Amino acid sequence: MTSTESTPSTTGKCPVSHIGESFDPLAANEMYEFYAKARKEEPVFYSPQLDMWVVTRYDDILQIMQDTETFSAANVLELYQVPCEAALNIVGSSGVKIAPSLVDEDPPVHTRHRQALRRPFTPERVKTLEPMIREFVADKIDGFIKRGEADLIDDFMYEVPALVLFRMMGIPDSDVPITKQFIKRLAVFGFGFPDEEEQVEQAQNLADYWGYIKGHIERLLADPGDDVMSQFIAQLQLPKNSDLWDQDYVQTIMMQLTFAGQETTVNASGGMYRALLENRDQWELLCADPSLVPNAVEESLRFYTPVPQWKRITTKATTLGGVDLPAGQRLLIALGSGNHDDAAFDDGDRFDIRRDNANKHMAFGWGRHRCLGEGVARLEMRIALEETVRRLPHMQLVPGQSWEFSPNIGHRGPEHVHVTWDPAANPVPADRP
Ligand code: HEM
Repeated sequence: MTSTESTPSTTGKCPVSHIGESFDPLAANEMYEFYAKARKEEPVFYSPQLDMWVVTRYDDILQIMQDTETFSAANVLELYQVPCEAALNIVGSSGVKIAPSLVDEDPPVHTRHRQALRRPFTPERVKTLEPMIREFVADKIDGFIKRGEADLIDDFMYEVPALVLFRMMGIPDSDVPITKQFIKRLAVFGFGFPDEEEQVEQAQNLADYWGYIKGHIERLLADPGDDVMSQFIAQLQLPKNSDLWDQDYVQTIMMQLTFAGQETTVNASGGMYRALLENRDQWELLCADPSLVPNAVEESLRFYTPVPQWKRITTKATTLGGVDLPAGQRLLIALGSGNHDDAAFDDGDRFDIRRDNANKHMAFGWGRHRCLGEGVARLEMRIALEETVRRLPHMQLVPGQSWEFSPNIGHRGPEHVHVTWDPAANPVPADRP
């Protein structure tokens, strides 16, 4: 939006403030500084660039997440810009359906779909994944431990969540590199501002990915297994769910899960290693006392929130942080900001792996839509950290590296985390060259 003529006004005055004008939703490193200013000066502000109200305080975000009647999730998968005609034609002719897709549904249909999908994500089922995850993690570390330098993303965590998820979904490990490429481009298409050429390329990517997913679901329909998607299909085909059965919906959920389960966890792991190694005293504390690993995972999710900005839309007039909002207002929920709010976390901009309420963060959302895969993500991060603390306590960040991020609003994590160490000093003798 370039003019303020059509901006919503709740008071009869133009709502665009200095804070709203200076907000850059793609800002990377400095975003937490901006949030701190917004929480103090104008905790709920209007962004003319996005035509959305940005909500920055912990308690206001909690109010939104807990009240699904007033705050609908219907706009969660809405694109931030209307794609060009050529991109729309590619998507349209390929039959791709992006929504509805659980995360953007409201009760009662959301409740029924979630119930049908939740089984493989219960704590008991997630626990059984531990040996497999440890094997993937160990295998990746074996690949670089004698080298003395690595990128903790490209060489390590880039593929682990995909390998885990694909095993859960019955997809062969050999397909991981192909699908990683599909997923990577989805973040910018779904949550960024690609130019027309990129939109066409990304629309084609989406169409190809849809074709890949369709093939997989059709194989499972003919020959079901014990995987996540076969179990979901079986639930939807129960007589009590006959009104829910829809093959396109199943494919959309598979697309969402393969995206949600990888991109987020890779970003979270990058943020975790960045936070720990930049705050060297915390890394050393952790290496001296590995029982702190689970809390270090929580504190990292709080500190570098992997989904820093999420969405909702008002269904009726309401008041939020003292601002009166009519129905139909689109909200950008700054989960990353809520996670740094001093009102919820003592000295919220400080990274502290001994923080006693670190797990009150909102990195996984809150309430009805709370992340279904949080247990899987936590387990992957915990095991990765346990193994690196044990085998690489002496690794150091390569000094002066710049942090690069995918240019999108919803998903954030460093694309690379470069580290070095002396392999002759590896604590596990078998790891030495
Ligand atoms: C660190 C990693 C992860 C983060 C930070 C994360 C974050 C989130 C967030 C913020 C939401 C939206 C909550 C809301 O709208 O209130 C969400 C929803 C969801 N996530 Fe995750 N997620 C992660 C990993 C995963 C994994 C590994 C999976 C699957 C294997 C997964 C599956 C889902 C699903 C299915 C939903 C939709 C739930 C619903 O609407 O009922 N996520 N996640």
